[in-house]
Amino acid sequence: MTEPRKIIIDTDPGQDDAAAILLAFGSRDEIEVLGITTVAGNVPLRLTSRNGRIICELCNRRDVKVFAGADAPIKRKLVTAEHVHGKTGLDGPDLPEPTMELQPGHAVDFIIDTLRGQPEGTVTLCTLGPLTNIALAFQKAPDIVGRVRELVMMGGGFFEGGNITPAAEFNIYVDPEAADIVFRAGVPIVMMPLDVTHKLLTRKDRVARIAALGTPPAKAMVEMLEFFERFDIEKYGSDGGPLHDPTVIAYLLKPELFKGRDCNVEIEVTSELTVGMTVVDWWGVTDRKQNAKVMRDVDADGFFALLTERFARI
Ligand code: BDR
Ligand code: CA
Repeated sequence: MTEPRKIIIDTDPGQDDAAAILLAFGSRDEIEVLGITTVAGNVPLRLTSRNGRIICELCNRRDVKVFAGADAPIKRKLVTAEHVHGKTGLDGPDLPEPTMELQPGHAVDFIIDTLRGQPEGTVTLCTLGPLTNIALAFQKAPDIVGRVRELVMMGGGFFEGGNITPAAEFNIYVDPEAADIVFRAGVPIVMMPLDVTHKLLTRKDRVARIAALGTPPAKAMVEMLEFFERFDIEKYGSDGGPLHDPTVIAYLLKPELFKGRDCNVEIEVTSELTVGMTVVDWWGVTDRKQNAKVMRDVDADGFFALLTERFARI
């Protein structure tokens, strides 16, 4: 049997971040979570750090190390998304306050130390929020860039446009300077944009299969999803909400669920109108260097089947 893949989950939970973390926890044969690093995004850092620990405790994983990271984007004022995720970021279920402690030390240093401490090319960075912690780590310790196996991110959108402005997806919009640093770093990137995640709606039949598992994590997850989807249902009249962040972990487990191509991606950092836009050269109309595998399609039923199967193992 092959060794489980070592990952760091960098996150701003968020109900869909929680779904991603549950998917990783339910896949222990394939994935070893070296640590969870939190960042300001959906809600301020104090809450994302609280929520990360709530999710660990919900899954009986008090052994997982949780580190708090950046409390603000590199250059800009923090923009949050309580309008989607609720006041706590994890609205929906009634979950107890966490009792496990945050680890001492900063998430950025944990990322650096882990990449230096593990054999080169063995650690995958999974990012589910703004890229602030990763960019700060790359700036502080450029030697770690070449040690990353792969960076798999939820972020951006191209054919679908944006979800926080017409041009920008939330994670990139919150800290475009950080995204710019990461896309220029030369690290192998897999990008899960809105073009993929908007195809993953939490339809009633899909959520019902998760509910049928009947376990406490599954029950809490269903309550989270029911809260989370109300925003999209009201706003777009869609059949559930898009489940963004678990695509990152699903890709590690079953890359064949996704289709995309290698492209150049650049981040708009100056224009007021389109700041945070991921400019994807999908058609290869420039000779700019390919720096990311950009996904566009997903087997939605296969994705939800995987999610349900792995939630059952927690
Ligand atoms: C992304 O933004 C957040 O609100 C979600 O958790 C996801 O990471 C989607 O644009
Ligand atoms: Ca997120």
